Amino acid sequence: MSKYFTIFGNPISHSISPLIHNYTIKTLQIDGCYGRTLLENGNDLKKKFLNLKLTGANITVPFKENAYNLCDEVEGIAQNIQAVNTIIKKNNKLIGFNTDAPGFYESIKSYKNIKNILILGAGGTAKAISFILKQKGYKITLLNRSQKRLDFFIKNNFECYYWDNFIPTQYDMIINTTSAGLNDLLLPIKKDVLDKLFLNAKYAIDVIYNKQTPFLSLAKKHNLIIKDGSDMLLYQAVLAFEIFFDFKYPKNVIEKPMKYAFKFLL
Ligand SMILES: NC(=O)c1ccc[n+]([C@@H]2O[C@H](COP(=O)([O-])OP(=O)(O)OC[C@H]3O[C@@H](n4cnc5c(N)ncnc54)[C@H](OP(=O)(O)O)[C@@H]3O)[C@@H](O)[C@H]2O)c1
Repeated sequence: MSKYFTIFGNPISHSISPLIHNYTIKTLQIDGCYGRTLLENGNDLKKKFLNLKLTGANITVPFKENAYNLCDEVEGIAQNIQAVNTIIKKNNKLIGFNTDAPGFYESIKSYKNIKNILILGAGGTAKAISFILKQKGYKITLLNRSQKRLDFFIKNNFECYYWDNFIPTQYDMIINTTSAGLNDLLLPIKKDVLDKLFLNAKYAIDVIYNKQTPFLSLAKKHNLIIKDGSDMLLYQAVLAFEIFFDFKYPKNVIEKPMKYAFKFLL
């Protein structure tokens, strides 16, 4: 029986998920198809999922919290993050997962000698990354432009600062999860603060993919090892595919066609 998948979001026309998933479905000779669905209202997500008779779906901005709330069961780290980017229907239940978090970890796990990590930003992506990295044993600090979004992290016992009370100290890795640099030439924090942080750091990671943001360009000038968000995007898709097909295909089997598709798309 054919299996149908989609990605829900708004906007959604830019999403490359259908292309990489469909290429992988075709390569592995699976009877299935992956589309994209523009959603106006997050409250319609469950109805749409059921009407489209989906086996599974990915959920992107701004509906990950809606997805978390509609699931009958939520697995793993998605429970902490309270955001779901992958849903499957199993035994008439909707089960939610978060693959952004382990996808990010896959992308940096080969980097060694890291203890202290500073995460810039306090949005949905910062939540995913902070929980997985804390779970893996790193010491995590968050720095956000404003105070409000830090409440969630303070409640979850993370060390948190906002711009006005932050004093730069030593961090091995600095991760930009803000959208500064996405559609502009902004740095995520003031240049003099970044310069101080980069003096003592080894790695600078940006979750924005397929471009060298001003944050990464400055890190490069300081001779840091830099990485953009392309690998995070790839691995969250590999892990979602694994879930969609009930772990029938090993990661390396999924990764090969996905990487190939990525090379042509990004
Ligand atoms: N590579 C991947 O697979 C992947 C996956 C998911 C997301 N992303 C990327 O991650 C980024 C963040 O997404 P999100 O969903 O976490 O966003 P979000 O929930 O809207 O959070 C945005 C955060 O960025 C801060 N911010 C926004 N503009 C800023 C600026 N000009 N200067 C400093 N701080 C700024 C906000 O601070 P305030 O609280 O002060 O407003 C907030 O903490 C996006 O660029 C997205 O494309 C990549």
